[in-house]
Amino acid sequence: MSLITGNSFAQDIVPLPREIIKNGQSFTIDNNTKIIYDKELKNQAVLLADFLSPATGWDFEIAELGNTNTHSIVLKIADRIPMEGYELTVDKNQIIILAKSGAGIFYGIQTLMQLLPVEIYNKQRQRNITWEIEGVSIKDKPGYVWRGMMLDVSRYFFEKDYVMKYIDMMSMYKLNTLHLHLIDDSGWRLEIKKYPRLTSVGAWSGEGVARQGGFYTQEDIRELVAYAALRNIEIIPEIEVPAHTLAAIAAYPYLSCREKPVKVQDQHSISRELYCVGKESTFEFLDDVFEEAFQLFPSKFIHIGGDEARYDRWKECSHCQKRMADLGLKEEAELQVYFNQRIQSMVKKHGKTIVGWDEIIEEGLEDKAVGMVWHNKKKAFTATKLGHDIVMVFSDYLYFDFPESSIPGEVKAATWMPPISLEKVYQFNPLIEGLDEKYRPQVLGAQGALWSDQFIHGTILQEIAPINENRSEVYMDYFTFPRMSALAEVVWTNRSLQSWESFQQRMQTQYNRYDQAGFGYRVPQPKLIKKEKVEGGFIIELENIVHGAEIRFTTDGIKPNIHSEIYTKPIEISRLQDFQAITVVNRHHYSLPLYFPVAYPEFEKFGKLTGEWRVKDVLADQVMELEINATGKIKKNGSYEVTFLHTDGDTQLKIEGITVNKNRKIFADDMHSGIAGEQPESNTYSFEVDNYETGAEFKIKANISGVGGNNSNGVIYIKMKE
Ligand code: ACM
Ligand code: ZN
Repeated sequence: MSLITGNSFAQDIVPLPREIIKNGQSFTIDNNTKIIYDKELKNQAVLLADFLSPATGWDFEIAELGNTNTHSIVLKIADRIPMEGYELTVDKNQIIILAKSGAGIFYGIQTLMQLLPVEIYNKQRQRNITWEIEGVSIKDKPGYVWRGMMLDVSRYFFEKDYVMKYIDMMSMYKLNTLHLHLIDDSGWRLEIKKYPRLTSVGAWSGEGVARQGGFYTQEDIRELVAYAALRNIEIIPEIEVPAHTLAAIAAYPYLSCREKPVKVQDQHSISRELYCVGKESTFEFLDDVFEEAFQLFPSKFIHIGGDEARYDRWKECSHCQKRMADLGLKEEAELQVYFNQRIQSMVKKHGKTIVGWDEIIEEGLEDKAVGMVWHNKKKAFTATKLGHDIVMVFSDYLYFDFPESSIPGEVKAATWMPPISLEKVYQFNPLIEGLDEKYRPQVLGAQGALWSDQFIHGTILQEIAPINENRSEVYMDYFTFPRMSALAEVVWTNRSLQSWESFQQRMQTQYNRYDQAGFGYRVPQPKLIKKEKVEGGFIIELENIVHGAEIRFTTDGIKPNIHSEIYTKPIEISRLQDFQAITVVNRHHYSLPLYFPVAYPEFEKFGKLTGEWRVKDVLADQVMELEINATGKIKKNGSYEVTFLHTDGDTQLKIEGITVNKNRKIFADDMHSGIAGEQPESNTYSFEVDNYETGAEFKIKANISGVGGNNSNGVIYIKMKE
């Protein structure tokens, strides 16, 4: 294996190919370049022309392989090449892509796209560009066979067009599995002709203007499956059992134990309603649903969910209890294993293998299954020992609805775990520690997950787009990129070739590719190269990690914007906490700030750091309003304390009281006077929250003034009293 470095074209490929060798030549695509294909590769040839035409503005001639063709791109079958692998050779006469099948050819085409100037991804004609490709020969193949993403289209319904865009995003990075989470408590998204209420009732939630939902018709699904297949992406439907099924139960209450009418959820929580495992009618229903689903999805896998079932209903149900007694089962968990086995035998006649969340991996599940390890890592060991395959979807590495950072202003959907940075995703190894090498063939790969449960009621408060349109889709892009590119390298590139440093370098132009292709992404902050203590302060050196972007910075503690000073050389500052810098891609697209938060371990007893005041916020002997964003710090009903803590400056801060606001309405206050300074007095304020709502915005407003001057800086902490 060899990797030639110092090649500014080839180094920009993500995921990194196994072997790249330069030959010193080059090929320029022009108006006369032909696309030549081996018989069975016509679809790939047409697709390649579709990829190249918009930006170049040329209609390429496409022809079947015949006599010698000069100045052409040749797509050709070569049996010796491994599945999904390809060989790509570029010299002055020809570009040749060889592969065993269309899959490998498609990946060769994707690599070719990344060898071209980034403008090739643009949908508009790009003038004055020479479409030159450096001469290389590349040999490449993937490390894992399952390179996936899960899209939760149930909690928030993403229209077919967005799913197609998502397929484009995935296929650009050589991912090959799209797991569609089609069914959950908040919506049933798949048309089933035999059960029309699944979509006439189960696909819709809320009332009046809050009504929302939608579903894919069978025709939509056929279109998606074909669109994906051409791009070597297999769509795996998830039809959850027995929990996360409220939408189906709302449509057909007889599927549940209690048979009571219920409504499709419009706020996120996990319903306790389950399919009844005691009644045969449940299995008849599922048999019918699978029958129709399998006519739409050719994948050999069917995902049956299996996660987060709480057995309250089964415990109270005479049918379920009778089933347990008949089978001699002691616990409801065993009843779920029975349920899964019934489904296994049901889908087996269609030649399908079940996939499920790690809860399905239990002793007693006899036929081979695929476990998606998301929260119980021990299940990776259990599953492989029992002979099952596994796919890693570790929630603490690969749930992309978690924020990327804890920087104030970061976009958050789910918040129940720490941030998942780009680097953390990059460091993920599907062959987890402690898993014996001999089980490597059972580790099919890894998958990112994009849940949308937090999208249905607006927990996401931060706006990241200038226009508030398609905001859930904008958030989806933001959560996806650049982390999906890191995932791609984890599952594609040989681990011995993976390098965070090299990946960061190659990412510089990937951001440009996202821009050209119209894919949203999270702009990374400038990279800190050096922070050196010198006499009277610090020297800060930064690097721009988005090719062509600018770094802009401030040294007065105020958040930088697109008009702040441009960074050109290392900056000397006196106080670290006064420096902030952002990456500006364009006037609508810039990063969160890079900054240096100061840690105050001595203040931990006051709770969580929630706000601050600076000299600029204070006027001498004149009352000003200071706004403190407490969203995310107030997390439930209870008694809270806010404390104002002086950190530096030689004057005191007087606080004339606080008001507490939910969604911009005052609901509590504490109007006593207090002092924050070297000798604080009455500097803690109390209030009660009894109106907590997920997704609500909480702000605290304080009336403050400087006593005899404004030289006062400090921090504000919030604590919930136990
Ligand atoms: C899951 O996150 N409940 C699989
Ligand atoms: Zn029951």
